Amino acid sequence: MRIDVLTLFPAMFQGPMTESMLWKARDRGLLDLRLHDIRDFCTDKHRAADDIPYGGGGGMIMKAEPVVGAVEHVLADAPPGTPVILMTPQGRVFSHRMAKELAAYPRLALVCGRYEGIDDRVRQLVITDEISIGDYVLTGGELAAIVVIDAVVRHIPGVLGACWAADEDSHADGILEGPHYTRPPVFRGLEVPSILQQGDHGKILRWRREQGLRRTWLNRPDLLLKADLTEDERYLLAQFAEEMIRARGR
Ligand code: ADE
Repeated sequence: MRIDVLTLFPAMFQGPMTESMLWKARDRGLLDLRLHDIRDFCTDKHRAADDIPYGGGGGMIMKAEPVVGAVEHVLADAPPGTPVILMTPQGRVFSHRMAKELAAYPRLALVCGRYEGIDDRVRQLVITDEISIGDYVLTGGELAAIVVIDAVVRHIPGVLGACWAADEDSHADGILEGPHYTRPPVFRGLEVPSILQQGDHGKILRWRREQGLRRTWLNRPDLLLKADLTEDERYLLAQFAEEMIRARGR
């Protein structure tokens, strides 16, 4: 997969893109990441990428000309339908499902906004989608783009090891994963649950699902409204609720 990033701060990508899984994906030829400096597409002699807003107000606005010029140059040879995504707090909130969908494209382009905003004609002319990584405002789209790249690349076949499937992650089926443990069996008096040590695969699967449900119930009850649950799992949730009511009554 090829991902083009258009940014005023390409150096912000250096660390995350040269370590760990993202570096492995690049090294194995599974990810072709290309960084483009929007400032290279500024045409005025001061290479200004921003200007004051029409209508007044504080802050500076990213100019349309260099951003549109950069997108058109970079995407000149891209297949039709290539997503051109603007990173903005006003976009659709990013999710596991969106990461998986984006991973199916051979090419993506991510445009990182800066300053107070971006001239809206960029959105009208070249942007196909707008993504936010959450309901808070960052100083620019670069960190958000790094988050999206990381989450998308995990879904490219061959990036994760064979026994580590992105489909088993928290959120993959709408509920969170349960707890994990590794050696030693006892640490500071806390023991690894005996079910995990005994090795009955069926029991382990059931236990993990139950723990995942419990965690979801405690931390992200909103996810349960959309999760695909069996009768038994709904019964378990009712038991968690009862346990909690009893514990509060104590
Ligand atoms: N740029 C600034 N804040 C952002 C956010 N929450 N998501 C994506 N891009 C952003």
